[in-house]
Amino acid sequence: MDKNRLLEGQIALVTGASSGLGTGIAYAFAEAGAKVVVNYHSNKTSGEEIAHNIIKKGGDAIALGADVGKEDQVQKMFKEMYSKYGTLDICMNNAGIQIDQVFHEITMENWYRIIDTHLTGHFICTREAVREFLKRGMRPVSRALGKIICMSSVHDTIPWAERVGYAAAKGGIILFMKSVAQEYASRKIRCNAISPGAIRTPLNRKAWETPEAEAQLMKLIPCKRIGDPPEVGEAAVWLASDLSDYVTGTSIYIDGGMTLYPGFEGGG
Ligand code: NAI
Ligand code: BGC
Repeated sequence: MDKNRLLEGQIALVTGASSGLGTGIAYAFAEAGAKVVVNYHSNKTSGEEIAHNIIKKGGDAIALGADVGKEDQVQKMFKEMYSKYGTLDICMNNAGIQIDQVFHEITMENWYRIIDTHLTGHFICTREAVREFLKRGMRPVSRALGKIICMSSVHDTIPWAERVGYAAAKGGIILFMKSVAQEYASRKIRCNAISPGAIRTPLNRKAWETPEAEAQLMKLIPCKRIGDPPEVGEAAVWLASDLSDYVTGTSIYIDGGMTLYPGFEGGG
């Protein structure tokens, strides 16, 4: 097995790939030999630029638009993906939003935006992917019939004041992931998650853009640095590859120790 081309010949969808972690994962998948569907929501230019960058480096990619929370748009995107690449091997559910708002002021609109993007988005994309895996049968490119990777967060474990909907959705994603993994393990579909801590992306710019904010953030990270998208990309490649063929129903925490109760660092 060529350790640099772990995903050779496989087709991977990355949702919300026009920025941040999704872009890092799309690039990592492409470097590992996968053909990548770069899903974007509203920023077509950016989605196309990411796909173009992959092609420029000798890879294969296409940018396709869809709101992951809308069934008709996701089904249209899957159809377009099949007409370009024929099938799908890896479904990376990455798209997400964060809305900061005190709990008692959360509007129904914002509640549904969070739940629809994270949980409903995971549901629709995963269901479409599983349908395709079951219909097409095994391919010689992998020991698995298909791989699903969910994007959770340390906030599937760490409660988060003023982001209650976000934490609730990420907690939900973990049991969603485990239940899908349990239901399809015997049919060789693996389903896992990644739970990142603070990774430098536009999503959490407020937490790192000034020295004061960064100093506050460092109090929460035992490793004393913020993570970068390629560090998540590499974990995604491992989870999508046959190297993790015996791994299903789990989440990898990539958080510089954020889940280690940093307040107890000095003995508590
Ligand atoms: P980002 O804001 O850079 O990227 C989010 C992407 O999701 C954007 O490309 C956006 O267009 C897309 N998106 C939003 N709503 C969508 C929809 N309805 N349909 C399709 N795409 C949609 O943020 P980042 O940080 O890259 O976030 C990616 C994922 O990682 C999210 O699920 C987030 O919750 C998660 N995460 C991020 C962490 C961080 O520290 N940056 C830590 C833990 C988890
Ligand atoms: C959030 C980021 C935050 C990180 C650590 C992620 O889920 O989206 O804004 O920096 O968790 O708290």
